[in-house]
Amino acid sequence: MKTIGILMAEHRVIEKMLSQIDEKPVGSIIEFFRIYADAIHHGKEEDILFSKLAGKEIKKEHQEIMNKLLEEHQKGREIISRIESNKGNDKIVKECKQELLELYPQHIETEDKHFFMPAKEYFTEEEQKQIDEESREFDKKQDKKKYEEMLKAQ
Ligand SMILES: [Fe+2]
Ligand SMILES: [Fe+2]
Repeated sequence: MKTIGILMAEHRVIEKMLSQIDEKPVGSIIEFFRIYADAIHHGKEEDILFSKLAGKEIKKEHQEIMNKLLEEHQKGREIISRIESNKGNDKIVKECKQELLELYPQHIETEDKHFFMPAKEYFTEEEQKQIDEESREFDKKQDKKKYEEMLKAQ
């Protein structure tokens, strides 16, 4: 299922942003997390992968992981909103960056190592193809390159 490889590659981009977070202007951080991490990346996770999984009979442990992942996406959104409302306050911005550094690496690790592969097993080959097709259509409408370039520059 190509979608998993794509989501994992996006994780590497998010990690790159986290490694540069102290040097990046607040505006770029907000834009990156709103568009790349949330709309593009969480968009595919929530609207395609998780939503299709919700229609399956899945093990309790996988359901619990998925609930936690969804809560963490929500937490990520809240941190970004807090940065936006406190742009001029260095202390709060710094605390929010720290929260992002605590939230994302473990979130990404859970998905990469404990969720995507078991998730894939719930889908037939036909369904996996359908997911790949929807992800491809979804990404067509996004400007992913812009964000990947933004991080390469440094
Ligand atoms: Fe996620
Ligand atoms: Fe993810």
